[in-house]
Amino acid sequence: MLPTVYILDDDATTAKLLSAVLDTSKRVQSEVFTAADAFFERCAEAPPAVVITDLVMPDTSGIDVTRRLREMDPFLPIFVLTAHGEMQSAIDALKAGATEYLTKPASQDELMTLLGRALEERPLREEAASIQQERRKEFSLGAILGSHPKVEEVREFVRRVAAIPRPTVLLLGESGTGKNLVARAIHYSSTHSAGRFVEINCSALPAHLLEAEVFGYQKGAFTDARETKRGLIELADGGTLFLDEIADLPFELQSKFLNFLESRRFRRVGGTDEIAVSLRLITATNRDLDREVRDGTFRADLYYRVSVASHVLPPLRDIKEDVSQLADNFREVFSREFRKHVTSIAPEALALMQDWHWPGNIRELRNVIERALIFTDGDTLMATDLPELGGVGAADPAQPAGASFPIPTNLSLADSEREYIRHTLELFDGNVQRSAESLGISRKNLWEKRKKHGLP
Ligand SMILES: Nc1ncnc2c1ncn2[C@@H]1O[C@H](COP(=O)(O)OP(=O)(O)OP(=O)(O)O)[C@@H](O)[C@H]1O
Ligand SMILES: [Mg+2]
Repeated sequence: MLPTVYILDDDATTAKLLSAVLDTSKRVQSEVFTAADAFFERCAEAPPAVVITDLVMPDTSGIDVTRRLREMDPFLPIFVLTAHGEMQSAIDALKAGATEYLTKPASQDELMTLLGRALEERPLREEAASIQQERRKEFSLGAILGSHPKVEEVREFVRRVAAIPRPTVLLLGESGTGKNLVARAIHYSSTHSAGRFVEINCSALPAHLLEAEVFGYQKGAFTDARETKRGLIELADGGTLFLDEIADLPFELQSKFLNFLESRRFRRVGGTDEIAVSLRLITATNRDLDREVRDGTFRADLYYRVSVASHVLPPLRDIKEDVSQLADNFREVFSREFRKHVTSIAPEALALMQDWHWPGNIRELRNVIERALIFTDGDTLMATDLPELGGVGAADPAQPAGASFPIPTNLSLADSEREYIRHTLELFDGNVQRSAESLGISRKNLWEKRKKHGLP
């Protein structure tokens, strides 16, 4: 059956003419309506493949018709017919969701080309939207795993701030606790998330480059400024600006930033015009901002501004009940990625993970499992696949044969760390470089730990 085109026009002659043109193409069939009521009744009964509507009608307007149809079907191709001099209304129709406007009298060629394209594109548009939907799911609340009450609190926080149009949010927590993940979740689960998610790490650039990057610059502002460049703030207009590692925001930029937060207006570097934006601001740091304020490296007034709504993400050692769920998730992720069939985690391996203190938090857990999945060939992740957690008889290529470290069960965490380091140093004949590599820490870190434990 041919796709059906509904034509709505109070002028019956125009409508019938158009209908005849379409029908002779033999690519579509058409039905004519001269009143909105009958038209919508028919749409509800038998949805059209395409709608062509006039712009100005006595009982309704093409813009209202478009709006109503869009609510019913977000992908329906809608064409609006306009007469000369109706340019502004044509633009309004596009804003209301029309696919295209046609100037009367539309030529048959043009009409058929547009219709053909709209019908072809529809499935593509639907697919793109479903990918977008997936992306939304991937990055939104569902991405925050864990059922510990503290994690539930994190999700509740995300829900609350995502419901406010332009919140200023500060995310705190140790490295690897999920600050970036939560920032994205706030953006993607917000009902106002049409805009972009723009991220910048304040520690990544020296002050003058960071300023140019964030605020943009006017042509001629400095030697290299050959073109006017929009800053990240402008790109994030209508969406989210995520300033990561806010504690590293250079002192000389802090007051400029504070001004922006207070007025929601700014000037590009070298620019004279004030530009107003509306965005959601999220900042994050794993440092103790309170202390930075006391030390005078972070402005107190800026601190009060950015910390309007703040939340501390829990370290993994405080939510140990979730280790198993997280570990299982990462096992599945990397099993798929590496095309392996690791379908479970052995109870002993899980016990090791539950006993570990996870200084690198969820990122460390993720890395440990990724590494284990690279080396394992079985279908179960074993304790021996986790040498960095003291897995027995581990097949670690960085260690000589027989390098297993039987972890003594009666020792405290600190004592077993000391014993593990002592064991590793002995194994590599005191070679610091190789021992540090095997332990997965830096030489400096190893040196500090030896000092702490009084190891030679
Ligand atoms: N609740 C969680 N559920 C699932 N994955 C998580 C969770 N929290 C963190 N992760 C994962 O852990 C890793 C580290 O998270 P993220 O980069 O967000 O940490 P961070 O707090 O920003 O760390 P840093 O302070 O070092 O920047 C990421 O791969 C992230 O996807
Ligand atoms: Mg981060």
